[in-house]
Amino acid sequence: MARAKSTYRCNACGASEPKWTGRCSGCEGWNTLVEELVEPAPSSTAGPVVSVPLPIAAVDTEAWAPAPTGVGEADRVLQGGLVPGSVTVLGGEPGIGKSTLLLQMLAGLALTGRRCLYVTAEESAQQVRLRAERLGALPPNLWLVSDTALPHVLAHIEAVQPDVVAVDSIQTVYEPSLSSAPGSVAQVRECAHRLVRVSKERAMASVLVGHVTKDGALAGPRALEHLVDTVLSFEGEQHHALRLLRAVKHRFGSTDELGLFEMTDAGLAGVPDPSALFLADRRAGTPGSMVAPVLDGHRPLLVEVQALVAKSVIPTPRRSAQGLDSGRLALIIAVLQQHVQMPFADLDVHTVVAGGVKTTEPGVDLALALALTSARGGLALPDDLVACGEVGLGGELRQVHQTARRLAEAARLGFRRAIVPASAPLNLPGIDVIRVATLREAVRACSDDLGRRRAS
Ligand code: TYD
Ligand code: MG
Repeated sequence: MARAKSTYRCNACGASEPKWTGRCSGCEGWNTLVEELVEPAPSSTAGPVVSVPLPIAAVDTEAWAPAPTGVGEADRVLQGGLVPGSVTVLGGEPGIGKSTLLLQMLAGLALTGRRCLYVTAEESAQQVRLRAERLGALPPNLWLVSDTALPHVLAHIEAVQPDVVAVDSIQTVYEPSLSSAPGSVAQVRECAHRLVRVSKERAMASVLVGHVTKDGALAGPRALEHLVDTVLSFEGEQHHALRLLRAVKHRFGSTDELGLFEMTDAGLAGVPDPSALFLADRRAGTPGSMVAPVLDGHRPLLVEVQALVAKSVIPTPRRSAQGLDSGRLALIIAVLQQHVQMPFADLDVHTVVAGGVKTTEPGVDLALALALTSARGGLALPDDLVACGEVGLGGELRQVHQTARRLAEAARLGFRRAIVPASAPLNLPGIDVIRVATLREAVRACSDDLGRRRAS
């Protein structure tokens, strides 16, 4: 086969060069040239007219309804399921469980009569079959092929005529007429481009797996975001069973839904009640522990913030924040020192959000500050209390959005009282609220409460 011609195009200015060079001659940017195939010149006419304008209300949407995957938490994030003709990237770090999730989704789709094709470009067909057996996912409508060359993949699509195709992963398939290595930006982009075109032509839904490194920089999901309809991100800690699925981009709905899974021996299981899971191991009466209702997208979650304060034996005390923003920890320590007159100068401070969850929203500030004061004083906070609010640099407390939803979740899990900023909305349901204007007042309210309990 004659080799198709390729050229090197600058990512920044669009200039093209016949050969790769380190610096673009157009904009003088370094390392911006990426190989691409030279497409045959388009014909001068647009061809025959095939699309027909319709009144907007007459446009048929039935055929484009999302197909549920049967994996509840994934359908929640996709807001219904996979839309025919759409292309979805499923990104995440290696080993997080992308192939497992994909197999479970395809099995679910196959069970509802959709023809599915799983193209495995990383593992052998035998490996995938063995995993499918463990997951109990061997429906007759699920086809499997192991291949890496894009022209072969397209031929398999032609042969199987699937409703849904999955390519695992986009970094390992390659177009032989490009000289760039598999996994390079040029290859990933070209392969994705072709699969997008085929998906739209056949009204076939595609899911492309993309590996991302810790900093999200690897050629792949980032280079594809603008090409595809939906970008899903699958996250979690390797050493914890919890996995979070979010939509980073979604053309067919909002990106506010969060899917939660637990990796088990039998694959990924949805977590219908995450707050209960996060709080399951909480020990009441331990100093340095406070519960905060946080919001991830639309989903309220209760998390336990823990702090440990100990005398430092080194000149620069340690400050560690796991699952929390270290910048916010530094800020809250500074506010406690300045506005609550609570010195931390010679103390090591360790803070975590228990259970391997990450939260960076300011709604957790007040709980973190109270956990710190409790740890420092060695006094446990009341265990029916939650705290929810942002701490400002002046020591003032600010309300966070959707306070009512957060507190409703706290009330559902049996918490009876909440410390909230004075400005929080009135009529908060199902829970007694303690309104405070500053962090100093919040700390005082907690210690008064402890004093009353001890006296009674
Ligand atoms: P995998 O889906 O292969 O991850 P990725 O495709 O993102 O690289 O799965 C990763 C890990 O999940 C693997 O180390 C084993 C574990 N695992 C389970 O714990 N239970 C299971 O049922 C399966 C299939 C995998
Ligand atoms: Mg995999």
